[in-house]
Amino acid sequence: MPRHHYPGWFTQSWPESRFNAMRHAGDPLADSTVEVLFKRGDREMVNQVLRHLHQPGEWPSDTPIELQAYLAASQTLPSWADTATLDRAYRFIDTHGVRYNIVLLFLSLPILYAWKIGGAQTLAMTGQLSEHFLRRVSETLRFVRDVIAEDGLGPQGRGIRTTQKVRLMHATIRHFAQSARCPGDKDYWNPQWGVPISQEALTATMLAFSTIAAGGLRKLNVPVTRQEESDLLHLWKVIGHVLGIVDANMPANVEEAHLLWNRFDDRNFGASQAGRLLTAAHLEFISKLAHGDALLHEALRGTDAALMRYLMGYRIAVTMLDVPRPGIWGLMITFTRLLFGLTERLVDTSEPLQQWLDHNAEKLWAALQAFWNSQAAPRPFAVPSEQQAEQGLQEMCALNARDSHTAH
Ligand code: HEM
Repeated sequence: MPRHHYPGWFTQSWPESRFNAMRHAGDPLADSTVEVLFKRGDREMVNQVLRHLHQPGEWPSDTPIELQAYLAASQTLPSWADTATLDRAYRFIDTHGVRYNIVLLFLSLPILYAWKIGGAQTLAMTGQLSEHFLRRVSETLRFVRDVIAEDGLGPQGRGIRTTQKVRLMHATIRHFAQSARCPGDKDYWNPQWGVPISQEALTATMLAFSTIAAGGLRKLNVPVTRQEESDLLHLWKVIGHVLGIVDANMPANVEEAHLLWNRFDDRNFGASQAGRLLTAAHLEFISKLAHGDALLHEALRGTDAALMRYLMGYRIAVTMLDVPRPGIWGLMITFTRLLFGLTERLVDTSEPLQQWLDHNAEKLWAALQAFWNSQAAPRPFAVPSEQQAEQGLQEMCALNARDSHTAH
């Protein structure tokens, strides 16, 4: 039963069949490139390419022609990209950089762990196999910084090349997830999940970084105007295009973006074992970030979970992802709520968290940057061999089997 109400024009222009097609569509350009590389060479060849993309420099003379073709075909911005709008979006993020990153860390990234139709299972599997649940979190934030840095998507910037790498990495993971085997010679991938990293999941993620992030910023007292929200959406649509999202699968405007997100939520969100595992690993990552700073570490205790619950809302954070029950901040929010009535509005003005952020957001941001600069920063994703993958896959298969049902 859908939770949300949709206007007639929306249900007509976005019928169920359109969403189902998105769930079953990947990214033909990148997928075919990866298929060819796997066929022509071996796992090590694909890994070499990924490593090279991670540290772009001159391409060796024996660079496979298919890869050169992929890089050439995917390096242009869409014709509808608007420089003035992009500039406004860069400036907006620059102005609110710390809060924007806080929102990505506590809302945009973890909310997708509630994607129980194949999303959480994809992320948990690569995390488990590489023992790096944190890489995607940390690398995605770094990606945002690279893409959004001045001229990130321009001719001198690193944004396009980085996006091309991620696109190829996604295709590699799509290939790998669909060929991974569980004990008993069963497929890891459940076909009812559609395809891994589908067009539907990609569009949802791009909305998590734009539309949903704008909502999160407002909750953190940043007054985001409709124009600013629209600029942010435009920027992420441009990134989405370079990342392989089909233009027609992205919303035309801010209003459609909200409706689309609700539809994705109705169709895909729920509790899963993989989602809970990812959420626990995410909270551990945040707490690890503060290791070098005893005060910050102490300040984060319990507040990290409270911030996630506040930004995501109880339904997703607690009932789907098992974010721990309220600590002191949570109790204060609950108390305010009981005192003044059970309206979301009052929760929205939760003062304790705002004050906490005023004191700690900058420090947390600095800790994240220190993490990037440290030796601990993880290496790029590499396709594991069958032997390397065996144990992690067994664990993931057992974990997924505990979900009573994972598809509609
Ligand atoms: C706008 C959409 C998205 C963006 C911008 C994005 C960005 C990224 C980035 C920056 C990385 C890290 C690359 C590196 O290690 O250097 C990554 C890895 C990854 N992404 Fe995405 N992503 C998006 C959508 C998705 C979706 C929908 C899924 C599906 C579940 C997904 C699954 C993964 C996985 C499994 C990895 C590898 C994780 C690992 O390193 O173990 N991504 N993505």
